[in-house]
Amino acid sequence: MSKHFETQAIRNQTERSQFSEHSTPLYLTSSFVFDDAEEMRASFAEEKEKNLYSRFSNPNTTEFVNKMVAMEGAETGYAFATGMAAIFSTFGALLNAGDHIVSCRSVFGSTHTLFTKYLPKWNITTSYFKVNEVPKIESLIKPNTKILYAETPTNPAVDILDLEILGRLAKKHNLLLVIDNCFATPYLQNPIKYGADIVIHSATKLIDGQGRVLGGVAVGKADLIREIYLFSRNTGPAMSPFNAWVLSKSLETLAVRVDKHCENALKVAEFLEQNKYVNWVKYPFLKSHPQYKIAKKQMKLGGNIVAFEIKGGIAAGKNFLNAIKMCSLSANLGDTRTIVTHPASTTHSKLSDSDRLEVSITDGLVRVSVGLENVEDIIYDLNQALTKA
Ligand SMILES: Cc1ncc(COP(=O)(O)O)c(C=O)c1O
Repeated sequence: MSKHFETQAIRNQTERSQFSEHSTPLYLTSSFVFDDAEEMRASFAEEKEKNLYSRFSNPNTTEFVNKMVAMEGAETGYAFATGMAAIFSTFGALLNAGDHIVSCRSVFGSTHTLFTKYLPKWNITTSYFKVNEVPKIESLIKPNTKILYAETPTNPAVDILDLEILGRLAKKHNLLLVIDNCFATPYLQNPIKYGADIVIHSATKLIDGQGRVLGGVAVGKADLIREIYLFSRNTGPAMSPFNAWVLSKSLETLAVRVDKHCENALKVAEFLEQNKYVNWVKYPFLKSHPQYKIAKKQMKLGGNIVAFEIKGGIAAGKNFLNAIKMCSLSANLGDTRTIVTHPASTTHSKLSDSDRLEVSITDGLVRVSVGLENVEDIIYDLNQALTKA
């Protein structure tokens, strides 16, 4: 099999059935049958590789996972119902009571809730560093630290963390490096190259790319994924075969879609940079991005998320959203449809001003998930809404 990304994404396919189908069919089945008692025994004993039950594996989920494993350069993986199921199951499988995590503070909101509300129930604690505090990481590591965790680019402020430094620190201190690679996709960035042990995705975003299904996946070292698999096969967060079928088809077009998303996003970022109603713009491949050099080093292109600060704070942010005509006001991202959100008045409205600033969310911050419409139409809509903010 070719090692080329696009070819892997298309030709890595479930074995054909007796019907000689060209495109992989849907295997909507909860369980699988055995020829006899001995085959059943050997399969349950894992002496024979065979699908048993779709909570454990299914041809559709296996195809999706195999593609993700190839794209990330991982050893193996497991697919989940959502990105959050992948994140929680990774912690559930790899951590013991009393363990400690060192994480970047800029993580997805529900991941932050896991760290602060749920993992402490098992006496698992987390110490945070801010995106500009990478040199502080070593001082946070304790004898019971087990995981170094980060997202890059971060949600929603598109800050970048240096994967090479994180990889080096994890190795030096014998920590597991777990990276949420959702914003980059395996097409733009492969954290395993820099020493990540586990890479997680919310497949709900660019991997689906069309706002249809939820999904998550964890890929990485075989011994760790084995623990995650055993935890998951017993606790039940598996991806449905239907969603795996949809997502595996989506992966066939990931490279072309993400190329176009990035091209549109760069044009939108350049437009916003010139706009008089905008204080600043953050996009990984704009020279003005504070971590531009790191982004260039570890990402193929800048991704589809552009963050900018509208002049006039919370009120201007809300006015901007109200004036939008074509783009969608929605909580998702990574869709063909451009989506705009204003975190300070919505997803992060319950945080105090200082807590919001800890994760780089200013009152006027707007996040644009740039879609695949004609970029002139996207810019036209943003421009007319800015004039009314
Ligand atoms: C960076 C990041 N990680 C994880 C998640 C959670 O994924 P899901 O919604 O599929 O559970 C999201 C969702 O927005 C996200 O943006």
